[in-house]
Amino acid sequence: MSDHIKITKIDGVLTLVMNRPDKMNALTNAMYGVLADALEGSDQDSEVRAIVIRGEGASFTGGNDVGDFASGVAGPRHVTRFIRALATIAKPLVAAVQGKAVGIGTTMLLHCDLVVLAEDAELIAPFVNLALVPEAASSLLLPARIGHARAFSMFALGERVGAQDALAWGLANKVVANADLAAAAEALARRLARQPLGALIATKRLMRATGAITQRMDAESEEFAARLTSPEAQEAFLAFAQRRQPDFLQFA
Ligand code: COA
Repeated sequence: MSDHIKITKIDGVLTLVMNRPDKMNALTNAMYGVLADALEGSDQDSEVRAIVIRGEGASFTGGNDVGDFASGVAGPRHVTRFIRALATIAKPLVAAVQGKAVGIGTTMLLHCDLVVLAEDAELIAPFVNLALVPEAASSLLLPARIGHARAFSMFALGERVGAQDALAWGLANKVVANADLAAAAEALARRLARQPLGALIATKRLMRATGAITQRMDAESEEFAARLTSPEAQEAFLAFAQRRQPDFLQFA
């Protein structure tokens, strides 16, 4: 268990809260494990009719813990299970995003059925900045959603996308004041929970190309694993720890 994830279940809505605000809710292997268990378990739990994911504090999440990237993870990598669960869970998933949503914080939104953004939300997918490649099938889903040019600038240059652009580009359903964010997402989830669950699940299944998505996840994982140990990536992680800019020009 990780006390960095809080879980509640009220009125048919399972709420998952990333709760490590001093580290911008950066996701550790243990946190991925708890999230994966909760998502996987939701399919079997007849009391769950909709799911909300949100983050405590000023930001949704700073993404994968960069320390874990640098040191590697001993034992099973729960991130793989978490990502797979995002792509395969039957029940609708609603995200509430404030502040920064970095890396997987942005890519997980492509698997959420409804996304509510706070006014200060910023979506950031700086995979190449860290000498890595996109994950969670985002190399497939992001260009499909917002077009190649915008997706490439997010991936390759780490361009940040503000809430209004994200809304205009089809990455979110609405933008609300920060103070209203959690309530807005819970209200949408409660509306979903009152809908006929069988039809809801079938609609989600019909709208999702699961085979193509999981196939792309496998291809990305292979590339990602190779990149993680590259000299470029080691330099990027060291630079993050040392709070300096990385020097990639030393590598051919
Ligand atoms: N892994 C580990 N720690 C992280 C983190 C991450 N992904 N994201 C944020 N944090 C930590 C910071 O190290 C800092 O901890 P400290 O106070 O002990 O030094 C704390 O969260 C607050 O972040 P800070 O960097 O001070 O906030 P900022 O507003 O100046 O910068 C970011 C925000 C997102 C630009 C910066 O935190 C960052 O680059 N994080 C890494 C994001 C990333 O590359 N994620 C992986 C994507 S694949």
